[in-house]
Amino acid sequence: MLTIRQVTKEFGGLKAVNDVSCTVEKGSIVGLIGPNGSGKTTLFNVISGVYKPTSGSIELDHEDISYLGPHKKTMMGMARTFQVVKPFKNISVIENVMVGAFLHNHNHLKAEELALSILKRLDIDQYQHDQPKNLPLAIKKKVEIARALATTPKILLLDEVMGGLNPQETDQVLQTIVKLNKEGITIMVIEHKMRCIMAIAEKVLVLDSGKLIAMDVPEVVAKDPNVIKAYLGDEYHAEN
Ligand SMILES: Nc1ncnc2c1ncn2[C@@H]1O[C@H](COP(=O)(O)OP(=O)(O)OP(=O)(O)O)[C@@H](O)[C@H]1O
Ligand SMILES: [Mg+2]
Repeated sequence: MLTIRQVTKEFGGLKAVNDVSCTVEKGSIVGLIGPNGSGKTTLFNVISGVYKPTSGSIELDHEDISYLGPHKKTMMGMARTFQVVKPFKNISVIENVMVGAFLHNHNHLKAEELALSILKRLDIDQYQHDQPKNLPLAIKKKVEIARALATTPKILLLDEVMGGLNPQETDQVLQTIVKLNKEGITIMVIEHKMRCIMAIAEKVLVLDSGKLIAMDVPEVVAKDPNVIKAYLGDEYHAEN
């Protein structure tokens, strides 16, 4: 579904993403891991059109989307969440999700119906009239996912949607991700907690200083000496 060919993104002299090539198969869940500052969010920003690649190309369903902006890519069925949740202030949860729904549907009532059905799907419809700023982080993260879903994506990019959540909340979000995938959405997910990625991803990509140092099934990646050295180390063993 998604093909990334030799993508590099430079900021000044820094290659935040350095010659990365990979594919995301339709219907799969692909994990993206790596130490802080290794280029994960930057890769998402390039894929989703926030940044143009310095070089390389990106294809969605065999169509070159390398230089399209975020709006066009969303129209084509790509949605993403942000590492730092950015709900619109002073409007309710359901209105936040309607912002996503308006992309394809300008009818207010239809947008509201779609937004409500998504809130129900994520089991947060009881918060529909609340303002996101007053809600716990776990609900805010779900609102962020709901807003992305309202654009009816075929591929969803999730940037640390489990960051800052407790183990129960994390499990809930994991279940949500698996459910969405079963419903047919291809998912690319950045996550710091190894346990989470190992539990859901069919393929794991590992970035280190902008370079892709491993790309394989979770069991193989977890044993890769380069990965352990770059990232897993004590943290992985401690968590498991
Ligand atoms: N807009 C920008 N301008 C300049 N440098 C940037 C910009 N965005 C990211 N960088 C740099 O690119 C590198 C990769 O950052 P990025 O945010 O992609 O890492 P990350 O893997 O998502 O890290 P984290 O796990 O902390 O979220 C870092 O050195 C960062 O400082
Ligand atoms: Mg990041």
